[in-house]
Amino acid sequence: MKRILNIVGARPNFVKMAPIVRALEQRGEQFVQKLVHTGQHYDDRMSAIFFRDLKLPIPDVNLNVGSGSHAQQTAAAMVRLEPLLQEFRPDIVIVVGDVNSTLAGALTAKKLGLKVAHVEAGLRSFDMSMPEEINRLCTDSISDVLFTTDKIADANLLREGIPAERIHFVGNVMIDSLLACRDFACEERFYEKLGLQPKAYATLTLHRPSNIDNAEALEEILGALFENIQDMPIIFPVHPRARQRVKEFGFDRYFTDKLGAKGILMTEPLSYIEFLNLNMFSRLVLTDSGGVQEETTILEVPCVTLRKNTERPITITEGTNHLGGVTRESIKAAIRAALVDTPGRVRNPELWDGKAAERIVDVIASVCRM
Ligand code: UD1
Repeated sequence: MKRILNIVGARPNFVKMAPIVRALEQRGEQFVQKLVHTGQHYDDRMSAIFFRDLKLPIPDVNLNVGSGSHAQQTAAAMVRLEPLLQEFRPDIVIVVGDVNSTLAGALTAKKLGLKVAHVEAGLRSFDMSMPEEINRLCTDSISDVLFTTDKIADANLLREGIPAERIHFVGNVMIDSLLACRDFACEERFYEKLGLQPKAYATLTLHRPSNIDNAEALEEILGALFENIQDMPIIFPVHPRARQRVKEFGFDRYFTDKLGAKGILMTEPLSYIEFLNLNMFSRLVLTDSGGVQEETTILEVPCVTLRKNTERPITITEGTNHLGGVTRESIKAAIRAALVDTPGRVRNPELWDGKAAERIVDVIASVCRM
């Protein structure tokens, strides 16, 4: 029986890990797995609610690292993980995505001489001011098995000197979760609970430090969106960090908590199913998240990414994504373009078919035999 240790820490990790845990479970006796939550995200609406929606088992261990500076958070996760890894001695450690918990997990395991598998390897924004880009580069450079979502990622890794035999193009586990939950989320009709009409509102997510930690940058985005509100309500499930900044910068005037009143409508952070429902019935999605760019591509919802770059260019070339930039004018132009010329998707990006986790587990099984 091979021993697998799965590490998660933040919201998007839960979505990516759920199908992997399930696929490992389905192999019965072949694997024994442990799920470790670093505790990077800890609020019920940022964490526990996702475990329920995604039917993820309660973590075997929660390291409770909580919030802090990047160094504090990464270091706390490493220090608390080390004895656990020493005790369990997994045959392989699986980390997903690009958050601080991903890097902490990979680094700790590798230094103990353990094998590391990174799911969602090779994505590059080529923007080193993004903490996630640093996490991606460092994690990929020390991983033994690198699972990619598209061939652009394969090319990025090869260019960085990663040997081809370590790279496995398996598809997208984020889409495994989406396809598994889509029908149920469709029936949920969460948008109706907010009083919205289908395909007559926009959904907004915003939490990147570069967009929200600086008052000028945030106001540029809010200004652009505010001017579009006449045509369409904008619903904003707010990340706790963004809520803090809005308060701190005195930007309450851009927001409302009543549909019909002028302003962006704030809600608390949503569950996975609620957000999926809101997303699929949106006329337009505005986001600085990575995963949301992929989800809108599969749901065929026009998306404007509120960033200067994306590590997921396939969502532009093969999906419904438009790069909006971060200035008032560029955002307004991208919104116009997204509403007018988002063509229907011809096909899903290759291998975004709901079976990525099964392919991952096939590779894990053969790597563990070696
Ligand atoms: C993290 C990831 C980001 C990912 C995002 C998804 C890193 C570097 N960033 O960003 O890539 O897209 O998660 O949401 O790992 N907070 C709460 N409750 C929580 C968690 C956080 O109130 O449960 C607040 C705290 O004030 C905290 C702040 O949010 O300081 C930021 O949390 P943190 O985990 O540092 O980064 P995120 O912005 O969530």
